[in-house]
Amino acid sequence: MNNTFDVIVIGGGPGGYIAAIRAAQLGFNVACIDEWKNAKGGPAPGGTCTNVGCIPSKALLQSSEHFEHAQHHFADHGIGLKDLSIDVPKMLARKDQVVRQNNDGILYLFKKNKVSFFHGRGSFVRAVEGGWEVAVAGASQEVLTGRQVVVATGSSARALPGVPFDEERILSNDGALRIGGVPRRLALIGSGVIGLEMGSVWRRLGAEVTVLEALPTFLGAVDEQIAKEAHKAFTRQGLKIELGVKVGEIVPGGEGVSVDYTDAKGQARQLEVDRLIVSIGRVPNTTGLNAEAVGLMLDERGGIVVDAECRTNLPGVWAVGDVVRGPMLAHKAEEEGVAVAERIAGQHGHVNFDTIPWVIYTSPEIAWVGKTEQQLKAEGRAYRAGSFPFMANGRARALGDTTGMVKMLADATTDEVLGVHIVGPYASELIAEAVMAMEFKASSEDIARICHAHPSLSEATKEAALAVDRRTLNF
Ligand code: FAD
Ligand code: NAI
Repeated sequence: MNNTFDVIVIGGGPGGYIAAIRAAQLGFNVACIDEWKNAKGGPAPGGTCTNVGCIPSKALLQSSEHFEHAQHHFADHGIGLKDLSIDVPKMLARKDQVVRQNNDGILYLFKKNKVSFFHGRGSFVRAVEGGWEVAVAGASQEVLTGRQVVVATGSSARALPGVPFDEERILSNDGALRIGGVPRRLALIGSGVIGLEMGSVWRRLGAEVTVLEALPTFLGAVDEQIAKEAHKAFTRQGLKIELGVKVGEIVPGGEGVSVDYTDAKGQARQLEVDRLIVSIGRVPNTTGLNAEAVGLMLDERGGIVVDAECRTNLPGVWAVGDVVRGPMLAHKAEEEGVAVAERIAGQHGHVNFDTIPWVIYTSPEIAWVGKTEQQLKAEGRAYRAGSFPFMANGRARALGDTTGMVKMLADATTDEVLGVHIVGPYASELIAEAVMAMEFKASSEDIARICHAHPSLSEATKEAALAVDRRTLNF
């Protein structure tokens, strides 16, 4: 096989595999190297997102939500059930199948786009004339040469100092997605995105769940009003969230784990749980790349330093996704991958960081784009806010899920939409309209004048836009 390529992509997660496909579409001869292994040792491209992130977590969120609906909400619809049970191994097997379908889908896309896939670890060897040598260490050992290299090696779970993951009792996102049975008591450290999503899965299935968070505020990056509403909903569901704690000693022992901590009032406390999930953020993957040997510049977190266009300090070397600055989100990684491929082709790829949506897939879901009310206040920007509760939305009432609201923030003078914040049913889908509106620099008046289908949850977005001008029709 010819081992010389126009573009070599190291990492086959959403940043890497999408960069590879886009580069191939643009006519380049592309290689993608990824080391992830499935249970049989075979290739499993898709990275964290496909294997132990976005996809499996959403599969379990779906299964556990069905269970919760059957247990608590079917009766409202007149549906009776006897002997409801949860078969955790079957639920996990379904999740694994969903993951496999995604792995296979990526391998198919590589074939379709004529991307050469290499299963193994990629590392820089040396600069050569007009490019780079990259070694692949896997089932076979090879050295590839590429004119351009895109590093998309992603991130891994951050452990607490001195508390390594054993994936039996002290779990990262990986172990959290394959607990073999419902733990009676579960603790999570960190009430961020993983803490809330994984805490929700196991609470719905019957675990007693406590979330310990160091910060005194709940979901500090989320609009305060939305975070407050979400906190109320999670607490009502039985998720115990302790804010402002200082985690102390963690000792695995017997069948479980004991967690010492000081609560917000300064009281020493201890939790005895069957499983502990540590979800306190993630660290970029750069070990094994041989970055130092070729002089690839890293920051203090170990991430790759890039400019606004994802160029590293080395000529012809780019980096995208979780391994560089910015939000650790699959769609952000993908957008960067596309933009880099287009820049390599001499085009003007662009990522608009101001319109990257965030979604937390709890129930209620939380989704937002743009500025929060607290950010606008801090900037001293004059704005108008409008919100509309799902309680007053016909489709939400029919669904039986009226928690939450849509909130819109618009510039006080120009009426340009500056932020949209949603807590409630299908917020993950509703946010797309807000992203589109902001990309096109819509005003709240524009959204208010667009015909939305009735009855639909999206009418709450239209009503929130009307609320900016104090003229809601249904509230
Ligand atoms: P990764 O997906 O981490 O992929 C990097 C790949 O490179 C991996 O396959 C890795 O094995 C490989 N690799 C690393 N080093 C080498 C090397 N030297 N040689 C060869 N291969 C290498 N984001 C969302 O947007 N939505 C969600 O719902 C969501 N849910 C999540 C749930 C969980 C539990 C977690 C942990 C994360 C979630 N994320 C979510 C975040 C998302 O998974 C990441 O932002 C995304 O995967 C980053 O993509 P990436 O391509 O940069 O890196
Ligand atoms: P996170 O950054 O979302 O949350 C970590 C939380 O842990 C923070 O609230 C932080 O204050 C807290 N924390 C940190 N150190 C602590 C300590 N010692 N004791 C107690 N609390 C502590 O990180 P998380 O949940 O690990 O997720 C990592 C990333 O993965 C997310 O930031 C997100 O980018 C991505 N992700 C995205 C999802 C989505 O888009 N739906 C789902 C899951 C993950």
